[in-house]
Amino acid sequence: MIQTLDVTLEERSYPIIIGRGVLANGALLRPYIKQNKVLIVTNETVAPLYIDTVQSALEKQGVSAISVVLPDGEQFKNWETLNLIFDALLGAHCERGTTLVALGGGVVGDMGGFAAACYQRGMPFIQVPTTLLSLVDSSVGGKTAINHPLGKNMIGAFYQPKAVLADIATLDTLPDRELKAGVAEVIKYGLIRDPEFFSWLELHIDSILARDPEAVIFAVHRSCANKAEVVAADERETGERALLNLGHTFGHAIETGMGYGKWLHGEAVAAGTLIAAELSCQLGWLDADAVLRIERLFLRAGLPVRGPGLGVARFLELMRHDKKVEAGRLRLILLQGIGKAVMSDAASEAQIARAIEARCT
Ligand code: NAD
Ligand code: GLY
Repeated sequence: MIQTLDVTLEERSYPIIIGRGVLANGALLRPYIKQNKVLIVTNETVAPLYIDTVQSALEKQGVSAISVVLPDGEQFKNWETLNLIFDALLGAHCERGTTLVALGGGVVGDMGGFAAACYQRGMPFIQVPTTLLSLVDSSVGGKTAINHPLGKNMIGAFYQPKAVLADIATLDTLPDRELKAGVAEVIKYGLIRDPEFFSWLELHIDSILARDPEAVIFAVHRSCANKAEVVAADERETGERALLNLGHTFGHAIETGMGYGKWLHGEAVAAGTLIAAELSCQLGWLDADAVLRIERLFLRAGLPVRGPGLGVARFLELMRHDKKVEAGRLRLILLQGIGKAVMSDAASEAQIARAIEARCT
């Protein structure tokens, strides 16, 4: 069964097409491709698994698909790798109307999307996510970026895809550690705005980890529905969208501080979410039982609930590069209950330091 959700953004609206085996169905993508040519951006791990399926599905629709295969890893989410996409686009005489197809996880999606935003000042692109994290989060909403040695996702653009083709079957080949990392972003939706979903996850986390198709489809659909609603209400993160960054200020500091690729993004977000919960508890906004409930769910998902021992001073220094810093003041996403997140600058540096100390080894 194929399910479709819409991201409603006036003339930039687009569908998220969710199903098993949709990758092989080129007719689903054809309406979103203007010319008869696409450039598929993928990486060396995903290419041998899925590029033939996508290429032949498109060829059946009269679309020729050339490709560029990037090195795999967060440590390659940088200018040098981005330039490989521009080399391929220019080398193949791609035009402003050619479509870029980003086939892979969040790294490929973020880089492919950023390349599409820049090439000839903007070419159409389609997200074809192949990790749980990219299915439920990064492929939807148009945030594109590369990393800088001093800060994660610091160079980028808001640039919406024309469509998202979400094939749940791609998860069959995803390593367990990557699946678990994706679960961190799934839990996030429950924590920030969907308490019923959080309770559902408490009942069904084992089925998701066992890749039960019904549970996975429900979790992907519910996550995408939450994300689509938030993005439609606040595309450029002037308000509610910032809540999607629960755990991310701490998490990005972990990723940058440990060296890109050492901690998976979802793992860093999980530990970061527990630091945010700890801080919320210290502020008297979240009770200790709720913190325990959150910790228990992340533990059951096989995710870290403590950060690494970067040292508080280094942690705080890394956090100063966050995109939510305004007039030099750090704003954090904190919890006032399960299902209720807020953005706040109420915590003092000493309180933040205490939460980091309490939740990092
Ligand atoms: P990833 O893209 O590095 O993919 C994880 C690993 O799985 C990689 O080794 C990849 O090659 C491999 N892989 C991908 N699909 C596979 C499949 N079907 N079978 C087997 N292996 C497969 O990591 P990710 O977790 O997908 O994404 C993390 C990135 O997403 C981070 O850079 C993060 O900043 C970004 N992100 C962006 C947004 C956004 O809104 N744009 C949101 C969340 C995260
Ligand atoms: N992943 C955060 C956002 O899309 O806003």
